[in-house]
Amino acid sequence: MKFLRWILAISLLCLVLLNISCTTEHKTLTIKKEKFGMVDGKQADLYTLTNAKGMVVKITNYGGIIQTLTAPDRNGRYEDVVLGYDSLEQYVNNSPYFGAIIGRYGNRIARGRFTLNGVEYKLATNNGVNHLHGGIKGFDKVLWQAKPVKTDSTVGLELTYLSKDGEEGYPGNLNVKVVYTLSNENELKMEYTATTDKPTPVNLTNHSYFNFTGCKTDVLNHQLWINADRFLPVDSTLIPTGELRPVEGTPFDFRQPTAIGARINVDDEQLKFGEGYDHCWVLNDWDRTVKLQLSVYEPTTGRFMEMFTDQSGVQFYSGNFLDGSIAGKKGIVYKHRYGLVLETQHFPDSPNHPNFPSTILKPGETYHTVTVFKFGSK
Ligand code: BGC
Repeated sequence: MKFLRWILAISLLCLVLLNISCTTEHKTLTIKKEKFGMVDGKQADLYTLTNAKGMVVKITNYGGIIQTLTAPDRNGRYEDVVLGYDSLEQYVNNSPYFGAIIGRYGNRIARGRFTLNGVEYKLATNNGVNHLHGGIKGFDKVLWQAKPVKTDSTVGLELTYLSKDGEEGYPGNLNVKVVYTLSNENELKMEYTATTDKPTPVNLTNHSYFNFTGCKTDVLNHQLWINADRFLPVDSTLIPTGELRPVEGTPFDFRQPTAIGARINVDDEQLKFGEGYDHCWVLNDWDRTVKLQLSVYEPTTGRFMEMFTDQSGVQFYSGNFLDGSIAGKKGIVYKHRYGLVLETQHFPDSPNHPNFPSTILKPGETYHTVTVFKFGSK
């Protein structure tokens, strides 16, 4: 009898200890590295960041791509909410910038030309006559140096890259650092820093495609709120005309949360040019501090995301060029408007618009910008 009691006591103790170790494991922030594949004869890795709530963000140092990002629905179920591929090879072969860091210049520069201090620079053109997202081999297609970073309350990945003088036509050696940090509050912070040895345009952002249904349908039912009284109308090649147009009375008014699909097909010249939304919104109250400027809510799952940024603009692209020709993760076919992209940045084509806030970084200055995506459900 005594012996049995001892066995029972020891078993109970084991159970308690096991439980403690599982809980501690779950409560810690972790980062795990694994090989993702080979590119240009070099190894690219995939880093898995996990927080105490169980949110997972996977990032590869190829293009700084966010490959996986899980977010909770209203039943606490975490599901991958970003578009992308399972293998590195697919990213290398054909990716519409899924999850990637965009640079040296986010979005378009008209005809790939700009003049700085009297010198005309010619950039690579890769989007009809225009330069898009840094050119033929932008920051989304290079290998970054990666270093895990950890604090008591966050886990992250620091990525660095030297963009050489003349790369894609840009002047100056640009040292770039992007730090992704995941907190226990389900926030993913992106902090971008850069310095240069010659004046150059810089406009960095991230190009994640979100779908809070977990890619079960398109994003037209997602409700979007943007703190912007004005947007930038474009010409037929998606270059801003230079006007800052009031959103009032247009399908570009998201000052009240509105379904993306509510007005996307109305007869409107700007929507025709973009084949939907593919425009930059001028964020209100821009003072270079990080503040809440946008949110997206998906009613069937209850998932939402809040976007905090210190940037002057956000390019909202409603996945208009997705056409079902790409089978992504788990073979899911990305049909028309299956993802929405929210690129916090300065305005497209700023080097050719003196009335836009300057995007020129000079030697001795430090480019610094922060955007935070915070995920939750209601
Ligand atoms: C641009 C779109 C472009 C897309 C590429 C967006 O940021 O605004 O015009 O087609 O990126 O996937």
